[in-house]
Amino acid sequence: MKRDEFSGFFGVLVAAVGSAVGLGNLWRFPYLVGQNGGAAFILIYLAFVMIICLPIIISEFIIGRRSRANTVKAFQILAPNTPWSIIGVVGVLASFCIMAFYTVVGGWTLDYLFRSLIHLFSKPDISSLESQFTNLVTSPVRPILWTVVFMIFNAFIVMSGVKKGIEKYSKIMMPVLFLMIVILMIQSFTLPGAAKGVEFLVKPDFSKINTQVVLAALGQAFFSLSLGMGCMITYGSYIPSRENLSKLSFTTAISDTLFAILAGLAIMPAVFAFGISPQEGPGLVFIVLPRIFAQIPLGNLFAVIFFIILFIAAITSVISLLEVITAYVTERLKMKRTIAVLLISLMVTVCASFSSLSQGVLKEVKLFGRTIFDFFDHLSANILLPLGGLFIVLFVGWYMKKSQVYDEFTNQGTLKGTLFGAFYFIIRYVAPVAIAAVFLDLILR
Ligand code: TRP
Repeated sequence: MKRDEFSGFFGVLVAAVGSAVGLGNLWRFPYLVGQNGGAAFILIYLAFVMIICLPIIISEFIIGRRSRANTVKAFQILAPNTPWSIIGVVGVLASFCIMAFYTVVGGWTLDYLFRSLIHLFSKPDISSLESQFTNLVTSPVRPILWTVVFMIFNAFIVMSGVKKGIEKYSKIMMPVLFLMIVILMIQSFTLPGAAKGVEFLVKPDFSKINTQVVLAALGQAFFSLSLGMGCMITYGSYIPSRENLSKLSFTTAISDTLFAILAGLAIMPAVFAFGISPQEGPGLVFIVLPRIFAQIPLGNLFAVIFFIILFIAAITSVISLLEVITAYVTERLKMKRTIAVLLISLMVTVCASFSSLSQGVLKEVKLFGRTIFDFFDHLSANILLPLGGLFIVLFVGWYMKKSQVYDEFTNQGTLKGTLFGAFYFIIRYVAPVAIAAVFLDLILR
């Protein structure tokens, strides 16, 4: 049977950007910016995206397209009879762990979306926003039901295939996402006091910069671009051979960054206009923003738009995670796609239910000192991703033959490959050192 493939440049792009743009951009990026000195953090983040992460996206695409296989088999094909395929196995594991908490947050966005739809024309009660959030996440049944609904969307899209599922739905949803963020941004700009928020985002305060901040920026760049666990390897394996990998990677990195900045521009002015501290942190999206919506004209309409944005961002990311495992299971066990997706989704839902419950009734159950939810989060984002990323660059920079890498970079010598020298240098020397630094910082912290 012929392997599925994306239809062309735009198809790959929406899928890759869909994977990259997620809760990482809309929820994590704004509060990290808030905590780490605003514009100065953004500048460092931009430098990391362009200098370190862009070459890593290219590397993942190269591994995927060269082998045309799932992330485990990719390494078996390129490095037969070596332990390198462990990277792929770790990637599959990481996808699983990320989904186990990401789908729970996806469920919360559905619950919020549903409630803001119901209250579309009424004034919400702002005194209880905090307890509304706590009530939701600690209740035993409701968040799990929404997680299941979220997972059904996820499974449905991935089941439909790469071109007819992932690509098709990303092509519809990503432009909607972009349009809605722009609407929200314009609305946010009209709030009194919004200028303060914009200033915070464009005027760097370099006194806030220290190694901690620098490392946080690199870690965020990694998570936001879906790097380090074979997501881009898997998507790379579906890229037609005529497409230019460096151009695709560049456009993906720029778009992801644009979305992060737009999200910052949509959220920060509102935060300042209502006198909320930009350092509010993870609660920003679910507690602080609804408070703002409650106080502006047509607030519930904007709440609906905002939670649709969050939902689209989350679903187009989570399908890339499910695809990593689905590609592996279908190719390894020769299982039918539909059955594989159903089985994996079932397993993810069971784990996700436990991480949901760990916000409430199972709060006391600890794995290595963390709740189940935090354990999945920490294990994947802070340990598996950087480790995977490190080995991926080492693989392309030191194990693969330079001629092989060059071949894939230039589409068999048909592209000029002007920047190949710079790319190769970064992959061999700069990226491994930088990632090792982040990794050590994260585990020693
Ligand atoms: N990049 C997504 C976000 O910003 C999350 C994500 C999807 C991810 N696939 C990934 C993160 C793979 C790390 C690795 O929300």
